Amino acid sequence: MLIVDLPQDSYEIAIAPNSLGQLGSKMKQLKIGKKVLVVSNPEIFGYYGDTCLKSLENAGFETCTHLIPPGEEHKHLQSIQQVYDTALANQIERSSTFVALGGGVVGDMTGFAAATWLRGVNFVQVPTSLLAIVDASVGGKTGVNHPQGKNLIGAFYQPKLVAIDPTLLTTLPPREFRAGIAEVIKYGVIWDEDLFTKLEHTERLDSLEYISDELLETMITRSCQAKADVVSQDEKEAGLRAILNYGHTIGHGVESLTNYKQFVHGEAVAIGMVAAGKIALEMGMWTKEEAQRQDNLIAKAGLPTDIPLELTTEAILETIKSDKKVKAGKARFILPTAIGKATISDRVTPEIIKKALSF
Ligand code: GLY
Repeated sequence: MLIVDLPQDSYEIAIAPNSLGQLGSKMKQLKIGKKVLVVSNPEIFGYYGDTCLKSLENAGFETCTHLIPPGEEHKHLQSIQQVYDTALANQIERSSTFVALGGGVVGDMTGFAAATWLRGVNFVQVPTSLLAIVDASVGGKTGVNHPQGKNLIGAFYQPKLVAIDPTLLTTLPPREFRAGIAEVIKYGVIWDEDLFTKLEHTERLDSLEYISDELLETMITRSCQAKADVVSQDEKEAGLRAILNYGHTIGHGVESLTNYKQFVHGEAVAIGMVAAGKIALEMGMWTKEEAQRQDNLIAKAGLPTDIPLELTTEAILETIKSDKKVKAGKARFILPTAIGKATISDRVTPEIIKKALSF
């Protein structure tokens, strides 16, 4: 059993194929109130809404639903206002629970609504994308975008349970699956050498159809274990947790310079990991061979590796200045020091970045 071990309110990450139908009985063990608001998007709800609601109702919960249109462009405060309206109309109480049934956008928004409605109601994550399963659903980062930047408004608010059913991934579009693989590779590089090696020994990683059930479960379990280990040691990102942002500094720059249209998040992270690997190489922190192993794995997963030619290094440097991870005016980079190990560095100068990216 995987546990996110926290000073207050530790919780389980339950991973089991075909388990959505048991969500209600699993939630009943949490000893929470009767009412549940399920938040989802129309497509995901079309696939899994019935199973989810039936399972909750069979376990004695009273349910209501709220659907948010899909996509990052709806991840803003007005959408949260509408969740509150539904909560109010259905007399959601403090002991009630918000269930997020969806990918990262649904999870982040539902968590933020749960953190703030009545100063906090129970919250359960049922992630349906690989990226949400291995990263966004665990660890309690919730929030919405501000017109000036992604996730600028938010709260740390931990779920009571993360219920993962890997079989839900069969309806995930292949591009989204690959985007999730980028985060799995991230855990291999920063935390879990054994996971990295397993991925290296897998012939194809670019689509769910090539991945055995056993490997999929290993990828999910090891990634969630890595995230749980890190979050248990540093819930509010005072230090260590920042390593989970590996690939995100340049990745966010690439996303914002391409107006969030050219790349999905995991693809931008893949490009960012390759760039961070080059910076680590330039600084003598890891070897050419290790960088090559990482880049080969990213390419094998069918993910992009290069910053688009039209984005200048100057433009990337500008985005780094406004990144959330800037501390006391210094950009903080997560850099690998070996396969399975990473460190946080504020010694990366614009000159180093320019030199590293010029190759
Ligand atoms: N996705 C990075 C974190 O949860 O800290």
